[in-house]
Amino acid sequence: MGIYVWGTGCGASELFEAGLEATRITAFVDSFPMGDTFLDKPVLLPQQLPLRDCELLIITARHADAIGNRCRELGIPEEKCLFLKNNMVLMDRNTACTCAKDLLGEDLMEKLLPKHRIVPTPAQLAGSALPEQDLGNDYVRLATLELLCRRLADVPGAAAELGVYRGFFARCINQLLPERKIYLFDSFEGFAEEACATDSFQAAHTNTTIEKVLAILPYPEKVILKPGFFPESLGGLEEQFCLVSLDVDFYQTTLEGLRYFWPRIAEGGYLLLHDWGSPKLPGVAKALQDFERENGCRIPAIPLCDVGGSMILW
Ligand SMILES: C[S@@+](CC[C@H](N)C(=O)[O-])C[C@H]1O[C@@H](n2cnc3c(N)ncnc32)[C@H](O)[C@@H]1O
Repeated sequence: MGIYVWGTGCGASELFEAGLEATRITAFVDSFPMGDTFLDKPVLLPQQLPLRDCELLIITARHADAIGNRCRELGIPEEKCLFLKNNMVLMDRNTACTCAKDLLGEDLMEKLLPKHRIVPTPAQLAGSALPEQDLGNDYVRLATLELLCRRLADVPGAAAELGVYRGFFARCINQLLPERKIYLFDSFEGFAEEACATDSFQAAHTNTTIEKVLAILPYPEKVILKPGFFPESLGGLEEQFCLVSLDVDFYQTTLEGLRYFWPRIAEGGYLLLHDWGSPKLPGVAKALQDFERENGCRIPAIPLCDVGGSMILW
């Protein structure tokens, strides 16, 4: 009998950082696997999950509704499903999961599932261009992005994202600003050495490819790819931007990103700084603080109550 983990991204990394040993996992499950293995364990499609062997399925991905439905279709009993991202409904999804506490222990359960994870159901954004499934990932972040994009009609400049990973947020920007060029910056090899990312965090972020990112974008012809480590990957680029998403998790690249992009944001444009409020990624807020200090100014900014704790600079 084994423990299976649904998801091979940041959520899975959180699980190991909280203290679960990777050796206790039998295999990972992912609907869109990037490879056959993750952290040296096999990655199965949901339909390949051996039901009889599954003692506990820890669901680390955010699409809790869709995954819950899929589990029901596959006949995985609710008692065996532990949802870590309980973030889109005002209810505790895990009341039926009776085995988790015994298997994982109370301390780990408390770390994995702090009570504040339960937040209200979103009303569907009126006339949204984003599919409901996407909005379900982080409603506040995406609904805010959509509202900001509606204000950009007369603001000049391209869009950009520094820190693309699997292209989830880039896809939303590309969908909402179909006429704009979009620069996508990522090493596609995870974090630079000086970031000192843990092994599982690094593994979770190398688990992507340029091809997979391009394949999910609605308007890939608008993309200008900038692979490689930032800021070297800029290659002397001079551009003006109406919207920039800065999402690189650690201090140095966040600071470099602010230094490059902030002076190039057009009047009326926005820079979205992801994870500013994340207790796990304190380098992001520190980079903004140091950037303001080195420029002797306070940038007008509004914090969001989204999952990562974004800050909107404008
Ligand atoms: C949290 S992920 C981005 C997630 C994405 N914005 C989203 O919302 O779907 C962070 C990404 O930043 C990239 N990254 C971090 N430091 C970098 C650097 N110095 N140069 C290029 N990419 C970097 C990593 O490779 C990783 O894919």
